[in-house]
Order: sequence, then structure tokens, then C-alpha cells
Amino acid sequence: MQTIRIDTPSAKYSIFAGYGLLETLAPRIERAVGRLPRRVFVLTSPEIWALWGRSLQQSFAEAPVVLFLPAGERHKNLASVERLTREMARAGGDRGSLLIAFGGGIVGDVGGFVAAVFMRGIPYVQVPTTFLAQVDSSVGGKTGVNLPEGKNLVGAFHHPRAVFADLGVLGTLPDRELRAGLMESVKAGIIRDRALVRFMEEHARSVLKRDPKALERVIGASIRMKAAVVNQDERESGLRMILNFGHTVGHALEQATGYKAMLHGEAVGWGMVAALYLARRRGTITGAQMERLEKLIYRYGPLPELKARAGRIVAATAGDKKNVGGMRRFVLPDGIGASQVVEDVTVAELEAAVRYMLARAGEELG
Ligand SMILES: NC(=O)c1ccc[n+]([C@@H]2O[C@H](COP(=O)([O-])OP(=O)(O)OC[C@H]3O[C@@H](n4cnc5c(N)ncnc54)[C@H](O)[C@@H]3O)[C@@H](O)[C@H]2O)c1
Ligand SMILES: [Zn+2]
Repeated sequence: MQTIRIDTPSAKYSIFAGYGLLETLAPRIERAVGRLPRRVFVLTSPEIWALWGRSLQQSFAEAPVVLFLPAGERHKNLASVERLTREMARAGGDRGSLLIAFGGGIVGDVGGFVAAVFMRGIPYVQVPTTFLAQVDSSVGGKTGVNLPEGKNLVGAFHHPRAVFADLGVLGTLPDRELRAGLMESVKAGIIRDRALVRFMEEHARSVLKRDPKALERVIGASIRMKAAVVNQDERESGLRMILNFGHTVGHALEQATGYKAMLHGEAVGWGMVAALYLARRRGTITGAQMERLEKLIYRYGPLPELKARAGRIVAATAGDKKNVGGMRRFVLPDGIGASQVVEDVTVAELEAAVRYMLARAGEELG
């Protein structure tokens, strides 16, 4: 098992990643929060509960109150927050209650936000069940929901008391979800962990086969990378921005395709291809490095077909809430395992990068 510490001005706690955590959750939570409160809520989705609910419940002397959030991004909204907090109030929830967010990133984001606002904030723990949630969304304290006007526009920083990433639950994760989540690990390696890049190159087969040791190595390193960044820059005033590598174009792709055609990690995969092209043009990576990193991205694919037009994608990057002025902000790798944020990417540069990406999408699909 890997134990990674979050240590920021507002929170100090551990992230545990390993096997067998789910079946022993109650005593582990007790150790993390002191003692189990009278009311414990579990927020999950019906699908996850059907697969893993029994395992989660087995270590609790008294069964937790189960709250359900249906799967899908369209339920990550304020209406769900209202419904869930009302259910908690009716079930006797109080300021000392504990919430367990048990699911993918959507359950984690909604659960964290519900915990942030119910009774002005109650303690919660994350038990992430997707690859993406284990390496990314459960780490760092960002919580929130979507508005019709855009994704993640309402939210709060609210750290959990602990994170328990049980890698065993990934056994039932669809292959496409696994591969999409792995793009965040590819990202982690490229921006800050050269050894992770090498490991993912050399052990792609075992990782994709979900070999326990290989998964633990990749997930542990990915969490460690994000935790180290969050520990230095909790509120994203500087360093934390590097986590957005591949996300400027990635978000634009998701937006241009209505969040339906592709998974987040798949969009980030293509976004990284565009960013690598930009980095190559600016000379922060060599041609050989670009080739090597692109190959790594495709190794964890396949990435989906891209139907959006270049103009539409470029236009969609203008709406990114992380932009300043007319220029686009980009995270560019600096060799392999380091990165920098640049603020002055012109529309012409961006267009060239998007065209390159679209051309590669055509070729990759052959
Ligand atoms: N807070 C953050 O810092 C942060 C960071 C990145 C992403 N996010 C958010 O995370 C969300 C995406 O999360 P996600 O990719 O985990 O998607 P998700 O939560 O929609 O889960 C994907 C699908 O997998 C299913 N599933 C989950 N665990 C499973 C398991 N063990 N076995 C079988 N099926 C399982 C779910 O029911 C769902 O259908 C987005 O809303 C995004 O905005 C947040
Ligand atoms: Zn992401």
C-alpha cells in the first residue's frame, strides 16, 4: 500500500492507495477521523453500489445511510445537491455526521460539495472507484457542480479527512474508462515525473492488463505528483496550473462535441498531442521527444475520432475560464518530466497545433 500525505495551510491528511481497503473501511476511517459519528452517509451510484456495496458495508457495525446519485454528468448539478442535502436533513444528519463519497469523479465532486455546504460543512472521506478519480479528482480538495452555463462553475475547496483508493474496485471498470483515466497518468509523467514516463512505456501491457503491481506503481506515482503540486500551491495561483497540461484543447474538444462523443481523458489525450506540437515549435522539446511522448499517448489509446472543425475548437478555447486576455494560456513540457506555463500563445499558433492534432487523428484511425 502507498500512503501519500496532503499537507497544505488548510488541511493535513493521508491518501491510501492499495488493495483490500474497502473491506476494512470502518476501522480505517475511525483511525483517520477519531471515532465514527452516529450518522454516516454513503453517496454512491446505483451501479457502483450493486457491484461493491456489500464489500464496503461489511466492516460497519451499523449500516450507513445510502444516498444515490444516478450516473452521468447531467446529474452533477445544484438540483442534486438540494435533493441530497434534504435527504440528509430528513435522515437526521447533523454537523457531526460523516459523508463517504463512494464512486467516480462525479460522485466525488458532488459528495465533496454536499459535505462543504451541508450545515456549513461536515467531514467527509473519498473512496474513489474510477482510475481518474483515484489519481486525479479525489486529490486536492476541489469540489463542485456544473451549471447550464458551463462545467464546474459552482464549487468549494473542501478537503476530505482521508482518501482510500482501493485498486481492487478497478477490476469492474470498463476498459475505455481505464484507458481514459490513464491519460492523466501520462500527463503526470510528462509534466513532472520522468521515471513514470519510462515505467509507462516499458510496462504498458501489464498496466493495461491491470496487473496489481503495475497499477499500484502508476497510481501511486500519479497521486504523489498531484499531491506534491497541491502541497505547494493549494489554490492554483501558480504551480498547480501545470496540471492543466493537455486541458486547454482538451476542454475545447469536450465543449465542441457537447461532452458526449468522448471521455474527459480521451479529450486530454488529444489535447496533449496539440500541446506537444506547440512545445516542439517553440523548442521546449525536441522532435525525438515529441515523437516518443506522442507514441506513449497512443499506446494507452485508442483515442476517439475527432469530428469537430478546427475553427470551432479554436473558438472554444476562448471560453476557458483559465485564460487571460486574448492570448491563450498553455502548459508546455520542458523536456520530459518538467513543464512551464506560457501565457502568450497566439491564435495562429493554436490553429496550427489544432490542425496538426486533427491530421494525426485522421492518420491514427488510418
Ligand atoms: N475535483 C477535481 O479536482 C476533478 C479533477 C478531474 C475531474 N473531475 C471531475 O470528475 C468527473 C469525471 O469523473 P470520472 O471520470 O470518474 O467519471 P464518472 O464519475 O462519471 O464515472 C465513470 C463511469 O464509471 C462508472 N464506474 C465508476 N466506478 C466503477 C467501477 N469500479 N466499476 C464499474 N463502473 C464504475 C460510473 O458509474 C460511471 O458510469 C467530471 O465531472 C470531472 O469534472 C474533478
Ligand atoms: Zn483532467
